[in-house]
Amino acid sequence: MLLGTQRINAEGHLEVGGCDAVRLAREFGTPLYVMDEAAIRANCRAYKAAFEKRYPRNEIYYASKAFLTFAMAAIVAEEGLSMDVASLGELHVALEAGFPARRLALHGNNKSREELERAVAAKIGHIVVDNLFEIEMLADVVRAGGAEQDVLVRTAPGVDPQTHRLIRTGQADTKFGLNIADGSALRGVKQVLSTPGLRYRGIHCHIGSQLLDTETHALSAEIMARLMREIADQTGAVTDDLNIGGGLGVRYLAIQQPPSYDDFAEAITSSLKRTLDAADLPYPRLLQEPGRALVGEAGVTLYTIGAIKSVPLDAAMDANGRRRTYVSIDGGMSDNPRPQLYEAVYECIVADKAGRPADSLVTIAGKHCETDVLIWDTKVAAPEPGDVLAVQSTGAYNHAMASNYNRFLRPAVVLVNDGQAVVVVERETLDDLTRHERMPERLRLTWTAGR
Ligand code: LLP
Repeated sequence: MLLGTQRINAEGHLEVGGCDAVRLAREFGTPLYVMDEAAIRANCRAYKAAFEKRYPRNEIYYASKAFLTFAMAAIVAEEGLSMDVASLGELHVALEAGFPARRLALHGNNKSREELERAVAAKIGHIVVDNLFEIEMLADVVRAGGAEQDVLVRTAPGVDPQTHRLIRTGQADTKFGLNIADGSALRGVKQVLSTPGLRYRGIHCHIGSQLLDTETHALSAEIMARLMREIADQTGAVTDDLNIGGGLGVRYLAIQQPPSYDDFAEAITSSLKRTLDAADLPYPRLLQEPGRALVGEAGVTLYTIGAIKSVPLDAAMDANGRRRTYVSIDGGMSDNPRPQLYEAVYECIVADKAGRPADSLVTIAGKHCETDVLIWDTKVAAPEPGDVLAVQSTGAYNHAMASNYNRFLRPAVVLVNDGQAVVVVERETLDDLTRHERMPERLRLTWTAGR
């Protein structure tokens, strides 16, 4: 599986963005997140174009939680996309990167007063309110600031997508948004409409992530359009923004076939237009928040292979005396927690041997003090210590979810394009690990002789 600009070069090495992956590993060290700029840009353009040609009144908000750095914010801005942020930190990074505030939207199921204040003060485009408590708090913030704020109301449409249970959000039993079926969503809209300083713009839903079909999105578009009709009937208010969130899946394995952007756009816009026409409603602006679909396949993580060992399989599990080969790498669940959290699956390539047949069955193990397996039973070209292993499709929710578990240093991020590689996030240092440590005076150890 080669993704984005990846190819196999004359040396038989994996190449990304015109850069030899083995050389990137030597130059910048491993683990290393490598982001393919041309692939990100191509995805942004293609996603946008797929909707533009079917539904011109639309706006794409990149979901920055998937992957956010200064450079990414700049690319998103240059590509003419807007961006959603879901915390004070994401808002801060976006603003510090110079991202236009008017093109930002703020999310969160439990926004703090500080988050709302910062968002209102920065004059961001809109805030997606999640609950009645938040509407009151926002009203207060807006009053204190003498401002006005555009608002969307997050709803739970009660659809249940086929994806891992931890990344489903559209069902009724969710912490996110206001339930449509029990009337809470309508109540939220009414409360916004009656609150001075809040300008009701529309409704929002996000039904889940890594969805590999189009049906649930098409269904939720229909449910949302019907809610628009109900809002119009009950309040007379015009819903001019309809935000259907993100969620389109990507390829983690060659055998996976996510819908193309065109199929996805077709399913959503045709279902939406059909329902709007039947309900005799004007077409709202269609807002979306893809994260993974724009960056997931554009990232690859490079590791250095270390210890390799073969172990007998548990006799109870395997009567044929087979063995498993554990190939250990120099990262793991701190740079990619997704296998541990969601039983996420990945494919990998030995970057030094990208042209050779992948005929060795191995298990890729991280180096954390846990089971920490990144990939169970996968085929690669015979690996040896010192080889560079490239794990595919790590562009979304990897750097963004990295931790310092076992006091590992979070890896650098390199942006590659046309044969050039630039560091856009520096690798952490040991000093970074102790920067926030404070030793209470009474516990201070002195290593001088005699103590
Ligand atoms: N909009 C909202 C309100 C969201 O909550 C999310 C994702 C998105 C948009 C973007 O969804 P995407 O297009 O990337 O599927 N950490 C998990 C994914 C959690 C997604 C949370 N919300 C993972 O690694 O799979």
